[in-house]
Amino acid sequence: MSILSDKHILLGVTGSIAAYKAVDLASKLTQAGSQVDVLLTAAAEKFVSALTFQSVTGRKTFTDADLWGGNAHVLHVGLGHSADLMVIAPCTANTLAKLAHGQANDLVSITALAAQCPILVAPAMDVGMYTSVPTQANIRILQERGIAFAGPTEGRMASGLTGLGRMLEPGEVLGASRQVLGRRGPLVGKKVVVTAGGTREPIDPVRFIANHSSGKQGYALAQAAIDAGGQVVLIHTQTGLIPPVGVQQIPVDTVGEMLEAVLAEAAGADVLVMAAAPADFRPKQAAVNKLKKRDGLPQIELEYAPDILETISNMEENRPVVVVGFAAESHSLIQNAAEKLKAKKLDMIAGNDVLAPDAGFAVETNRITLLFADGRQEPLPLMSKTEAAEEIMKRVAALLETTLA
Ligand code: CTP
Repeated sequence: MSILSDKHILLGVTGSIAAYKAVDLASKLTQAGSQVDVLLTAAAEKFVSALTFQSVTGRKTFTDADLWGGNAHVLHVGLGHSADLMVIAPCTANTLAKLAHGQANDLVSITALAAQCPILVAPAMDVGMYTSVPTQANIRILQERGIAFAGPTEGRMASGLTGLGRMLEPGEVLGASRQVLGRRGPLVGKKVVVTAGGTREPIDPVRFIANHSSGKQGYALAQAAIDAGGQVVLIHTQTGLIPPVGVQQIPVDTVGEMLEAVLAEAAGADVLVMAAAPADFRPKQAAVNKLKKRDGLPQIELEYAPDILETISNMEENRPVVVVGFAAESHSLIQNAAEKLKAKKLDMIAGNDVLAPDAGFAVETNRITLLFADGRQEPLPLMSKTEAAEEIMKRVAALLETTLA
Protein backbone atom coordinates (compact mmCIF):
# COMPACT_ATOMS: atom_id res chain seq x y z
CA MET A 1 0.00 0.00 0.00
CA SER A 2 2.56 2.53 -1.08
CA ILE A 3 0.18 5.52 -1.08
CA LEU A 4 -0.12 5.20 2.72
CA SER A 5 3.40 4.05 3.43
CA ASP A 6 5.08 7.43 3.81
CA LYS A 7 2.19 9.58 4.96
CA HIS A 8 1.64 11.61 8.11
CA ILE A 9 -2.01 11.27 9.06
CA LEU A 10 -3.89 13.06 11.84
CA LEU A 11 -6.78 11.06 13.21
CA GLY A 12 -9.24 13.20 15.13
CA VAL A 13 -11.63 11.14 17.26
CA THR A 14 -14.76 12.71 18.71
CA GLY A 15 -17.36 11.55 21.23
CA SER A 16 -19.37 8.72 19.75
CA ILE A 17 -19.59 5.02 20.55
CA ALA A 18 -18.17 4.50 17.05
CA ALA A 19 -14.85 5.67 18.57
CA TYR A 20 -14.02 1.97 19.00
CA LYS A 21 -13.86 1.69 15.21
CA ALA A 22 -11.27 4.48 15.17
CA VAL A 23 -8.91 2.19 17.10
CA ASP A 24 -9.02 -0.33 14.26
CA LEU A 25 -8.64 2.48 11.71
CA ALA A 26 -5.55 3.80 13.56
CA SER A 27 -4.16 0.27 13.59
CA LYS A 28 -4.84 -0.32 9.88
CA LEU A 29 -3.26 3.02 8.88
CA THR A 30 -0.22 2.27 11.03
CA GLN A 31 0.14 -1.20 9.56
CA ALA A 32 -0.05 0.34 6.08
CA GLY A 33 3.05 2.36 6.99
CA SER A 34 1.56 5.74 7.89
CA GLN A 35 2.68 7.81 10.83
CA VAL A 36 -0.59 8.29 12.69
CA ASP A 37 -1.08 11.04 15.29
CA VAL A 38 -4.33 10.62 17.18
CA LEU A 39 -6.17 13.56 18.75
CA LEU A 40 -9.00 12.85 21.17
CA THR A 41 -11.74 15.21 22.30
CA ALA A 42 -12.76 15.08 25.94
CA ALA A 43 -15.98 13.28 24.94
CA ALA A 44 -14.01 10.72 22.91
CA GLU A 45 -11.88 10.01 25.99
CA LYS A 46 -15.05 8.83 27.73
CA PHE A 47 -15.38 6.04 25.14
CA VAL A 48 -11.75 5.10 24.43
CA SER A 49 -8.51 5.89 26.18
CA ALA A 50 -5.38 7.59 24.91
CA LEU A 51 -3.48 4.46 25.90
CA THR A 52 -5.55 2.31 23.53
CA PHE A 53 -4.48 4.41 20.55
CA GLN A 54 -0.93 4.77 21.81
CA SER A 55 -0.72 0.99 21.91
CA VAL A 56 -1.69 0.57 18.26
CA THR A 57 0.15 3.58 16.79
CA GLY A 58 3.26 3.42 18.95
CA ARG A 59 3.02 7.20 19.25
CA LYS A 60 1.78 9.67 21.84
CA THR A 61 -1.97 10.32 21.68
CA PHE A 62 -2.90 13.98 22.07
CA THR A 63 -5.80 15.12 24.24
CA ASP A 64 -7.16 18.47 25.35
CA ALA A 65 -4.74 18.32 28.31
CA ASP A 66 -1.98 18.99 25.76
CA LEU A 67 -3.67 22.26 24.84
CA TRP A 68 -2.51 23.82 28.08
CA GLY A 69 1.14 22.82 27.96
CA GLY A 70 4.03 25.12 27.05
CA ASN A 71 4.13 23.72 23.51
CA ALA A 72 0.41 24.03 22.87
CA HIS A 73 0.68 26.48 19.98
CA VAL A 74 3.45 24.51 18.32
CA LEU A 75 1.38 21.40 18.77
CA HIS A 76 -1.85 22.20 16.96
CA VAL A 77 -0.38 24.49 14.32
CA GLY A 78 2.58 22.15 13.78
CA LEU A 79 0.42 19.07 13.43
CA GLY A 80 -1.93 20.80 11.01
CA HIS A 81 0.96 21.98 8.86
CA SER A 82 2.99 18.82 8.62
CA ALA A 83 0.20 16.33 7.94
CA ASP A 84 -0.73 14.90 4.53
CA LEU A 85 -4.31 14.23 5.62
CA MET A 86 -6.58 14.82 8.59
CA VAL A 87 -9.27 12.20 9.14
CA ILE A 88 -12.01 12.90 11.69
CA ALA A 89 -13.63 9.56 12.51
CA PRO A 90 -16.07 9.32 14.11
CA CYS A 91 -17.23 12.90 13.65
CA THR A 92 -20.20 13.97 15.77
CA ALA A 93 -22.87 16.49 14.78
CA ASN A 94 -21.28 18.90 17.27
CA THR A 95 -17.82 18.68 15.65
CA LEU A 96 -19.36 18.99 12.16
CA ALA A 97 -21.02 22.22 13.30
CA LYS A 98 -17.73 23.51 14.72
CA LEU A 99 -15.87 22.70 11.49
CA ALA A 100 -18.54 24.37 9.37
CA HIS A 101 -18.44 27.59 11.38
CA GLY A 102 -14.76 27.82 12.21
CA GLN A 103 -15.19 27.25 15.91
CA ALA A 104 -12.04 26.12 17.61
CA ASN A 105 -12.38 25.18 21.26
CA ASP A 106 -10.78 21.76 21.50
CA LEU A 107 -7.65 20.19 20.05
CA VAL A 108 -9.51 18.49 17.17
CA SER A 109 -11.37 21.61 16.00
CA ILE A 110 -8.36 23.90 16.51
CA THR A 111 -6.12 21.57 14.51
CA ALA A 112 -8.75 21.22 11.74
CA LEU A 113 -9.02 25.00 11.49
CA ALA A 114 -5.25 25.39 11.22
CA ALA A 115 -4.78 22.37 8.90
CA GLN A 116 -3.22 22.94 5.48
CA CYS A 117 -3.95 19.39 4.34
CA PRO A 118 -7.12 17.79 2.97
CA ILE A 119 -9.71 16.80 5.59
CA LEU A 120 -11.85 13.65 5.47
CA VAL A 121 -14.83 13.34 7.77
CA ALA A 122 -16.63 10.10 8.75
CA PRO A 123 -19.84 11.18 10.49
CA ALA A 124 -21.48 9.06 13.19
CA MET A 125 -24.72 10.13 14.81
CA ASP A 126 -28.35 9.34 15.37
CA VAL A 127 -30.48 9.40 12.20
CA GLY A 128 -32.55 12.34 13.47
CA MET A 129 -29.43 14.37 14.16
CA TYR A 130 -27.94 13.45 10.78
CA THR A 131 -31.00 14.34 8.75
CA SER A 132 -31.72 17.52 10.74
CA VAL A 133 -31.74 20.81 8.86
CA PRO A 134 -28.70 22.31 10.66
CA THR A 135 -26.53 19.20 10.22
CA GLN A 136 -27.38 18.92 6.52
CA ALA A 137 -26.66 22.64 6.08
CA ASN A 138 -23.30 22.18 7.81
CA ILE A 139 -22.45 19.24 5.56
CA ARG A 140 -23.22 21.32 2.47
CA ILE A 141 -20.97 24.13 3.72
CA LEU A 142 -18.13 21.70 4.32
CA GLN A 143 -18.58 19.92 0.97
CA GLU A 144 -18.50 23.25 -0.84
CA ARG A 145 -15.24 23.96 0.96
CA GLY A 146 -13.72 20.73 -0.41
CA ILE A 147 -13.95 18.67 2.78
CA ALA A 148 -14.37 14.99 1.82
CA PHE A 149 -17.01 12.77 3.42
CA ALA A 150 -16.92 9.02 4.01
CA GLY A 151 -20.44 7.86 4.85
CA PRO A 152 -22.42 7.64 7.00
CA THR A 153 -24.27 4.48 6.08
CA GLU A 154 -27.55 2.90 7.09
CA GLY A 155 -27.48 0.41 9.88
CA ARG A 156 -28.10 -0.35 13.50
CA MET A 157 -27.35 2.53 15.85
CA ALA A 158 -26.44 2.71 19.50
CA SER A 159 -30.04 3.72 20.24
CA GLY A 160 -31.23 0.38 18.87
CA LEU A 161 -32.89 2.13 15.93
CA THR A 162 -31.88 1.47 12.36
CA GLY A 163 -31.20 4.35 10.03
CA LEU A 164 -28.74 6.59 8.24
CA GLY A 165 -25.98 7.82 10.52
CA ARG A 166 -23.82 4.77 11.23
CA MET A 167 -20.09 5.32 10.77
CA LEU A 168 -18.50 3.39 7.90
CA GLU A 169 -16.31 0.42 8.76
CA PRO A 170 -12.58 1.16 9.30
CA GLY A 171 -11.57 -0.49 6.01
CA GLU A 172 -13.98 1.76 4.13
CA VAL A 173 -12.67 4.91 5.82
CA LEU A 174 -9.16 3.74 4.97
CA GLY A 175 -10.24 3.32 1.33
CA ALA A 176 -11.73 6.82 1.33
CA SER A 177 -8.43 8.15 2.77
CA ARG A 178 -6.56 6.63 -0.17
CA GLN A 179 -8.96 8.32 -2.55
CA VAL A 180 -8.40 11.72 -0.93
CA LEU A 181 -4.61 11.25 -0.92
CA GLY A 182 -4.84 10.27 -4.61
CA ARG A 183 -6.13 13.75 -5.47
CA ARG A 184 -2.52 14.74 -6.10
CA GLY A 185 -1.75 11.73 -8.31
CA PRO A 186 -0.78 11.58 -11.99
CA LEU A 187 -4.17 10.25 -13.15
CA VAL A 188 -6.31 13.10 -11.77
CA GLY A 189 -9.02 13.96 -14.29
CA LYS A 190 -8.43 10.73 -16.24
CA LYS A 191 -11.04 8.05 -16.75
CA VAL A 192 -9.54 4.58 -16.31
CA VAL A 193 -11.50 1.45 -17.21
CA VAL A 194 -10.24 -1.80 -15.68
CA THR A 195 -11.66 -5.28 -16.27
CA ALA A 196 -11.19 -8.14 -13.80
CA GLY A 197 -12.06 -11.79 -13.36
CA GLY A 198 -12.93 -14.72 -15.57
CA THR A 199 -16.21 -14.81 -17.49
CA ARG A 200 -18.82 -17.56 -17.21
CA GLU A 201 -20.32 -18.84 -20.43
CA PRO A 202 -23.58 -20.70 -19.85
CA ILE A 203 -24.08 -24.26 -21.03
CA ASP A 204 -27.55 -24.48 -19.50
CA PRO A 205 -29.28 -22.66 -16.60
CA VAL A 206 -27.03 -24.32 -13.99
CA ARG A 207 -23.72 -24.97 -15.74
CA PHE A 208 -21.10 -22.77 -17.31
CA ILE A 209 -17.59 -22.76 -18.80
CA ALA A 210 -15.21 -20.69 -16.65
CA ASN A 211 -11.48 -20.29 -16.03
CA HIS A 212 -9.09 -19.95 -13.11
CA SER A 213 -8.82 -16.15 -13.10
CA SER A 214 -9.29 -14.83 -9.54
CA GLY A 215 -9.64 -11.14 -10.43
CA LYS A 216 -6.96 -10.18 -7.86
CA GLN A 217 -4.64 -8.46 -10.33
CA GLY A 218 -7.53 -6.48 -11.83
CA TYR A 219 -8.81 -5.31 -8.44
CA ALA A 220 -5.27 -4.31 -7.45
CA LEU A 221 -5.01 -2.31 -10.69
CA ALA A 222 -8.30 -0.53 -9.92
CA GLN A 223 -6.97 0.38 -6.45
CA ALA A 224 -3.68 1.60 -7.91
CA ALA A 225 -5.60 3.78 -10.37
CA ILE A 226 -7.66 5.26 -7.50
CA ASP A 227 -4.43 5.93 -5.57
CA ALA A 228 -3.14 7.76 -8.64
CA GLY A 229 -6.24 9.98 -8.67
CA GLY A 230 -8.10 8.35 -11.57
CA GLN A 231 -11.84 8.16 -12.05
CA VAL A 232 -12.06 4.38 -12.15
CA VAL A 233 -14.67 2.08 -13.67
CA LEU A 234 -14.22 -1.57 -12.68
CA ILE A 235 -15.99 -4.03 -14.97
CA HIS A 236 -15.83 -7.33 -13.11
CA THR A 237 -17.21 -10.83 -12.99
CA GLN A 238 -18.20 -12.64 -9.77
CA THR A 239 -14.96 -12.73 -7.82
CA GLY A 240 -15.94 -12.46 -4.15
CA LEU A 241 -13.36 -9.67 -3.76
CA ILE A 242 -14.07 -6.33 -2.08
CA PRO A 243 -13.89 -3.55 -4.67
CA PRO A 244 -11.70 -0.54 -3.85
CA VAL A 245 -13.51 2.45 -2.33
CA GLY A 246 -14.29 5.01 -5.01
CA VAL A 247 -14.60 2.77 -8.07
CA GLN A 248 -17.72 2.66 -10.17
CA GLN A 249 -18.55 -1.03 -10.41
CA ILE A 250 -20.15 -2.74 -13.38
CA PRO A 251 -20.80 -6.42 -12.65
CA VAL A 252 -20.98 -8.77 -15.66
CA ASP A 253 -21.08 -12.52 -16.21
CA THR A 254 -20.33 -13.37 -19.81
CA VAL A 255 -17.85 -12.19 -22.40
CA GLY A 256 -20.80 -10.71 -24.34
CA GLU A 257 -21.82 -8.60 -21.35
CA MET A 258 -18.22 -7.58 -20.72
CA LEU A 259 -17.80 -6.49 -24.34
CA GLU A 260 -20.97 -4.41 -24.15
CA ALA A 261 -19.84 -2.75 -20.90
CA VAL A 262 -16.33 -2.06 -22.22
CA LEU A 263 -17.71 -0.56 -25.44
CA ALA A 264 -20.04 1.71 -23.45
CA GLU A 265 -17.29 2.83 -21.05
CA ALA A 266 -14.44 3.10 -23.57
CA ALA A 267 -16.08 6.13 -25.13
CA GLY A 268 -14.46 9.01 -23.31
CA ALA A 269 -12.03 6.82 -21.38
CA ASP A 270 -8.36 7.73 -21.28
CA VAL A 271 -7.14 4.27 -20.31
CA LEU A 272 -8.37 0.69 -20.73
CA VAL A 273 -6.61 -2.10 -18.85
CA MET A 274 -7.92 -5.54 -19.78
CA ALA A 275 -6.84 -7.64 -16.82
CA ALA A 276 -9.90 -9.89 -17.09
CA ALA A 277 -9.84 -13.35 -18.57
CA PRO A 278 -12.78 -13.29 -20.97
CA ALA A 279 -13.59 -16.60 -22.62
CA ASP A 280 -12.08 -17.38 -26.00
CA PHE A 281 -14.72 -20.01 -26.78
CA ARG A 282 -18.31 -20.32 -25.63
CA PRO A 283 -21.23 -22.68 -26.21
CA LYS A 284 -22.91 -21.65 -29.43
CA GLN A 285 -26.25 -21.87 -27.73
CA ALA A 286 -27.07 -22.30 -24.05
CA ALA A 287 -29.78 -24.90 -23.41
CA VAL A 288 -32.99 -23.35 -22.11
CA ASN A 289 -33.60 -26.19 -19.66
CA LYS A 290 -31.13 -28.09 -17.50
CA LEU A 291 -29.43 -30.86 -19.50
CA LYS A 292 -30.47 -34.20 -17.98
CA LYS A 293 -28.11 -37.11 -17.52
CA ARG A 294 -30.70 -39.56 -18.73
CA ASP A 295 -30.73 -37.85 -22.13
CA GLY A 296 -27.13 -38.96 -22.81
CA LEU A 297 -23.80 -37.18 -23.14
CA PRO A 298 -24.47 -33.67 -24.49
CA GLN A 299 -22.68 -32.51 -27.62
CA ILE A 300 -21.75 -28.92 -26.77
CA GLU A 301 -20.91 -26.97 -29.87
CA LEU A 302 -18.50 -24.13 -29.24
CA GLU A 303 -18.01 -20.88 -31.13
CA TYR A 304 -15.35 -18.17 -30.89
CA ALA A 305 -16.21 -15.47 -28.38
CA PRO A 306 -15.57 -11.87 -29.46
CA ASP A 307 -12.10 -10.60 -28.58
CA ILE A 308 -12.74 -7.44 -26.56
CA LEU A 309 -9.27 -5.94 -26.95
CA GLU A 310 -9.22 -6.50 -30.69
CA THR A 311 -12.65 -4.90 -31.02
CA ILE A 312 -11.53 -1.84 -29.02
CA SER A 313 -8.17 -1.45 -30.73
CA ASN A 314 -9.77 -1.53 -34.17
CA MET A 315 -12.27 1.19 -33.34
CA GLU A 316 -11.98 4.23 -35.60
CA GLU A 317 -13.33 6.52 -32.90
CA ASN A 318 -13.42 6.42 -29.11
CA ARG A 319 -10.36 4.20 -28.67
CA PRO A 320 -8.94 5.06 -25.23
CA VAL A 321 -5.58 6.85 -25.46
CA VAL A 322 -3.72 4.03 -23.69
CA VAL A 323 -4.82 0.41 -24.09
CA VAL A 324 -3.13 -2.26 -21.99
CA GLY A 325 -3.52 -6.03 -22.21
CA PHE A 326 -2.31 -9.03 -20.29
CA ALA A 327 -0.80 -12.17 -21.75
CA ALA A 328 -1.34 -15.26 -19.66
CA GLU A 329 1.11 -17.78 -21.04
CA SER A 330 2.21 -21.27 -20.13
CA HIS A 331 5.26 -21.20 -22.48
CA SER A 332 7.26 -18.89 -24.81
CA LEU A 333 6.12 -15.90 -22.73
CA ILE A 334 7.97 -13.07 -24.48
CA GLN A 335 7.30 -14.31 -27.99
CA ASN A 336 3.58 -14.87 -27.37
CA ALA A 337 3.19 -11.57 -25.50
CA ALA A 338 4.95 -9.68 -28.31
CA GLU A 339 2.62 -11.25 -30.86
CA LYS A 340 -0.47 -10.26 -28.85
CA LEU A 341 0.86 -6.72 -28.36
CA LYS A 342 1.09 -6.35 -32.12
CA ALA A 343 -2.04 -8.25 -33.12
CA LYS A 344 -4.22 -6.37 -30.64
CA LYS A 345 -2.51 -3.01 -31.36
CA LEU A 346 -1.77 -2.39 -27.69
CA ASP A 347 0.36 0.33 -26.11
CA MET A 348 1.62 -2.07 -23.45
CA ILE A 349 1.18 -5.72 -22.51
CA ALA A 350 1.97 -7.40 -19.20
CA GLY A 351 3.11 -10.95 -19.82
CA ASN A 352 3.00 -13.45 -17.01
CA ASP A 353 3.81 -17.14 -16.78
CA VAL A 354 0.70 -18.75 -15.37
CA LEU A 355 2.47 -22.03 -14.62
CA ALA A 356 5.14 -20.48 -12.35
CA PRO A 357 4.28 -21.40 -8.73
CA ASP A 358 4.75 -17.78 -7.55
CA ALA A 359 2.78 -16.13 -10.37
CA GLY A 360 -0.54 -16.49 -12.14
CA PHE A 361 -4.04 -17.14 -10.93
CA ALA A 362 -4.85 -17.54 -7.26
CA VAL A 363 -1.52 -16.52 -5.68
CA GLU A 364 -0.71 -13.11 -4.18
CA THR A 365 2.45 -12.53 -6.22
CA ASN A 366 3.21 -12.02 -9.87
CA ARG A 367 6.29 -12.13 -12.09
CA ILE A 368 5.58 -9.84 -15.00
CA THR A 369 7.45 -8.68 -18.07
CA LEU A 370 6.18 -5.47 -19.63
CA LEU A 371 6.38 -5.05 -23.38
CA PHE A 372 5.73 -1.72 -25.07
CA ALA A 373 4.57 -0.79 -28.59
CA ASP A 374 7.93 0.93 -29.22
CA GLY A 375 9.79 -2.36 -28.68
CA ARG A 376 10.94 -1.76 -25.10
CA GLN A 377 10.89 -4.75 -22.76
CA GLU A 378 11.00 -4.45 -19.00
CA PRO A 379 11.09 -7.53 -16.78
CA LEU A 380 9.78 -6.73 -13.28
CA PRO A 381 11.07 -8.73 -10.30
CA LEU A 382 8.79 -11.04 -8.33
CA MET A 383 6.40 -8.77 -6.45
CA SER A 384 2.95 -8.72 -4.90
CA LYS A 385 -0.01 -8.13 -7.21
CA THR A 386 -0.48 -4.81 -5.39
CA GLU A 387 3.08 -3.73 -6.22
CA ALA A 388 2.76 -4.99 -9.79
CA ALA A 389 -0.44 -2.94 -10.16
CA GLU A 390 1.33 0.19 -8.90
CA GLU A 391 4.22 -0.33 -11.33
CA ILE A 392 1.80 -0.85 -14.23
CA MET A 393 -0.18 2.30 -13.35
CA LYS A 394 3.07 4.32 -13.18
CA ARG A 395 3.87 3.19 -16.75
CA VAL A 396 0.28 3.92 -17.83
CA ALA A 397 0.52 7.49 -16.47
CA ALA A 398 3.84 7.99 -18.27
CA LEU A 399 2.45 6.62 -21.57
CA LEU A 400 -0.57 8.90 -21.23
CA GLU A 401 1.66 11.90 -20.62
CA THR A 402 3.91 11.21 -23.64
CA THR A 403 0.98 10.43 -25.91
CA LEU A 404 -0.91 13.59 -24.95
CA ALA A 405 2.21 15.80 -24.98
N1 CTP B 1 -8.94 -10.78 -24.17
C1 CTP B 1 -10.03 -10.09 -24.67
N2 CTP B 1 -11.11 -10.77 -25.14
C2 CTP B 1 -11.12 -12.12 -25.15
C3 CTP B 1 -9.98 -12.84 -24.66
C4 CTP B 1 -8.92 -12.13 -24.18
O1 CTP B 1 -10.02 -8.86 -24.68
N3 CTP B 1 -12.18 -12.77 -25.60
C5 CTP B 1 -7.81 -10.00 -23.64
C6 CTP B 1 -7.42 -10.37 -22.21
O2 CTP B 1 -8.13 -9.59 -21.27
C7 CTP B 1 -5.93 -10.05 -22.19
C8 CTP B 1 -5.50 -10.26 -23.63
O3 CTP B 1 -6.69 -10.27 -24.41
O4 CTP B 1 -5.67 -8.70 -21.85
C9 CTP B 1 -4.77 -11.57 -23.87
O5 CTP B 1 -5.51 -12.63 -23.35
P1 CTP B 1 -4.96 -14.12 -23.44
O6 CTP B 1 -6.00 -15.06 -22.91
O7 CTP B 1 -3.58 -14.18 -22.87
O8 CTP B 1 -4.77 -14.28 -24.98
P2 CTP B 1 -5.73 -14.64 -26.15
O9 CTP B 1 -5.72 -13.50 -27.10
O10 CTP B 1 -7.06 -15.08 -25.63
O11 CTP B 1 -4.93 -15.84 -26.85
P3 CTP B 1 -4.63 -17.35 -26.32
O12 CTP B 1 -5.70 -17.66 -25.32
O13 CTP B 1 -4.72 -18.14 -27.56
O14 CTP B 1 -3.26 -17.31 -25.73
